[in-house]
Amino acid sequence: MLSKLQKEIIELKDKKNAIILAHNYQRKDIQEIADFVGDSLELCIKASEIKDKDILVFCGVDFMAETAYILNPDKKILIPDSDADCPMANMLSKSEIEEAKEKYPNAAVVLYVNSTAEAKAESDLLVTSGNVKKIINVLDEDTVLFGPDSNLAKYTEDFTDKKLIPIPGDGHCYVHKMFKVEDIESAREKYPNAQILVHPETNKEVQLAADYVLSTGGIMTHIKESSHDEFVLGTEIDIISRLELEVPDKTYYPLREDAICETMKYHTLEKLKACLEDESPQIVLSDELVEKCKKPVNRMLEASK
Ligand code: 13P
Ligand code: SF4
Repeated sequence: MLSKLQKEIIELKDKKNAIILAHNYQRKDIQEIADFVGDSLELCIKASEIKDKDILVFCGVDFMAETAYILNPDKKILIPDSDADCPMANMLSKSEIEEAKEKYPNAAVVLYVNSTAEAKAESDLLVTSGNVKKIINVLDEDTVLFGPDSNLAKYTEDFTDKKLIPIPGDGHCYVHKMFKVEDIESAREKYPNAQILVHPETNKEVQLAADYVLSTGGIMTHIKESSHDEFVLGTEIDIISRLELEVPDKTYYPLREDAICETMKYHTLEKLKACLEDESPQIVLSDELVEKCKKPVNRMLEASK
């Protein structure tokens, strides 16, 4: 049953002709009233399809909302808490990319969608953990400057003959970096019948010790299609909220209880309601930045089809 506050948000959203998109790591009460919940690729695709709404409220970290703006600069893109950023995205600056390009002038620049708009503007192609296997080989270049996640770079190496150079050398997600091989070993002991699924942002040795390495969207699809009914999840804990809402007949355990992305949790129902009422905070990027980012974003969407 929805709460009074949740019902008020839905009413307000309808009155304002708005749509609410939420990432898989959002709190359960936000997921419950979102129009669409997904991984970063699915959210990009959804944002590219929104034609009939005036307002898009993005419950996720700011690079995700910025990508929605790049795809819809004529719409109002709101984010309930404008401090919700991704520390990993902030690990790669425009000037670091420029330096790397000087050093490797023949290399392509491939960025994880978890990057700032300023960084995206310097890239040739964007990828997500859900499409990188499929699209990394669309590039002609043999050498690729790949950032900011060095673990995603290592994961991608298994699917291409290209030489991947991580920029910066140690870019990482503090949430996924927490997982250790010992966490997998103790989960295997505790839950011998469970499959262990981890995100490509985890360390390589954790990926090798797990049963599957999947994006959050990939985790959802895998579990929906699997005949297995017990799973250990090596990613942010609120993926379990989405699983409990959509696949409630199976059992889930977090690989670590403390795998929490703090900034994803900045969004609350109270802030979501206030943001719809005030139509603020709003995401706005300069026309010049939007123009520069469109090419790598659209190239990714085209190649992902
Ligand atoms: P997904 O694309 O798998 O949702 O990952 C985004 C993210 O930020 C993972 O930490
Ligand atoms: Fe960024 Fe990690 Fe949070 Fe994902 S989980 S948004 S990569 S800090």
